[in-house]
Amino acid sequence: MINSNENLLSLYVHWPYCESKCPYCDFNSHVIQDVDINQWIASFRNQLYNMKDELTKKNIRFTNLNTIFFGGGTPSLMPLEIIEAILDICNDIYGFREDTEITLEANPSSYDGKKFLKFKKLGINRLSIGVQSLNDAQLKFLGRLHNTNDVEVALKDASNIFDNISVDLIYALYGQNLTDWINELESFLKTHKLQHISLYQLTIEEGTKFFKDYKNGFIKQIDNDLAAEFYVVSNEILNDFEFVKYEISNYAKKGFKCRHNLNYWNSENWIGVGPGAYGRLWSSNRKKFRIEYQNYKNPKTWLSNNLFKSEFEKVTKLNSNVSDIDTLTMGLRLNDGVDISKIKNKSVINFHSLKDLQNRKIISFDNGNLKVNEKHMIKLNSIINFLINT
Ligand SMILES: C[S@@+](CC[C@H](N)C(=O)[O-])C[C@H]1O[C@@H](n2cnc3c(N)ncnc32)[C@H](O)[C@@H]1O
Ligand code: SF4
Repeated sequence: MINSNENLLSLYVHWPYCESKCPYCDFNSHVIQDVDINQWIASFRNQLYNMKDELTKKNIRFTNLNTIFFGGGTPSLMPLEIIEAILDICNDIYGFREDTEITLEANPSSYDGKKFLKFKKLGINRLSIGVQSLNDAQLKFLGRLHNTNDVEVALKDASNIFDNISVDLIYALYGQNLTDWINELESFLKTHKLQHISLYQLTIEEGTKFFKDYKNGFIKQIDNDLAAEFYVVSNEILNDFEFVKYEISNYAKKGFKCRHNLNYWNSENWIGVGPGAYGRLWSSNRKKFRIEYQNYKNPKTWLSNNLFKSEFEKVTKLNSNVSDIDTLTMGLRLNDGVDISKIKNKSVINFHSLKDLQNRKIISFDNGNLKVNEKHMIKLNSIINFLINT
């Protein structure tokens, strides 16, 4: 159990390689290259020890790691030796709780059943599977290497091994038929026993192939009103299947909220290791200021800068205004909202906007938490822009 005086410390590990680059994806992911296992282990080791020194210097007290998240890229492509080494190092310098949540992202095209079993043996206890779509034509459009049949097999294998499985889905694509989506989602939820779902509406991100295609008129975006309809209907269906929405895009069965992501949304402490990963730690007298540690993004640059010593690309002291805005922006994503006592400088909130949003029942206060009311969640970004004094 977690003692309320303790800091919750999470670790994010970034694996930057994938089998191919999906046209919508702006994550730090690159087509897989030769991997020198020993070099990667050495660089992860140096980073982990270096961060431990930072925690000691800042006098940040915590008891063991609360969560670890292997994200990517495609961590299911990671050589097992690297995962094992990272977990051993973590055990050595940080230690685990009895209930440390250890998630790994897996793609249906880059695993075999035996590998799932090995993940489990290494200590992974939560699998997040990139299903992405429940329809073969859409999987093709999204540039995925798997089809719906591969999804069936992957989920069957996973559920024989893990009792905490999450899936990522992308929906609200241009041209997607709402009735088809309803049928696909219902049948998917009837067939598979899942504990968590991340449901994202497709966004066109700058720098991606889809962004170019969009600019050139080859692809279009769904109309906003229809996207809102997709959101409402999906919430209803998930609710019928006992998934509770706890964040704008995340739904969990009872007891299965993602503790790692909650750490981000609640603006707690976390360490980030691997190319492009970033971490944030509060100063020792918590909540005064935060420090952000940004890793080199390019995998080779990251590797060479951590091989013999550990070096970040940038270390930034985030002043209390920046931290307050971040705490507010992240916290409002949650259904429970943000504990307003965490906001040190209340003037980051525009009080005219606050009153206006309250009068229009768009936001409300509930037990000291400021929250966006359920049916307005779909407009979260514009609500935040209106609410915050930048
Ligand atoms: C780091 S990525 C996924 C990891 C894994 N390699 C995969 O593809 O399954 C995290 C998730 O973000 C979502 N995502 C990425 N780009 C997106 C976009 N442009 N629009 C909506 N969702 C997106 C996808 O659902 C994806 O699974
Ligand atoms: S969506 Fe996943 S598999 Fe596709 S490029 Fe991004 S990280 Fe890699």
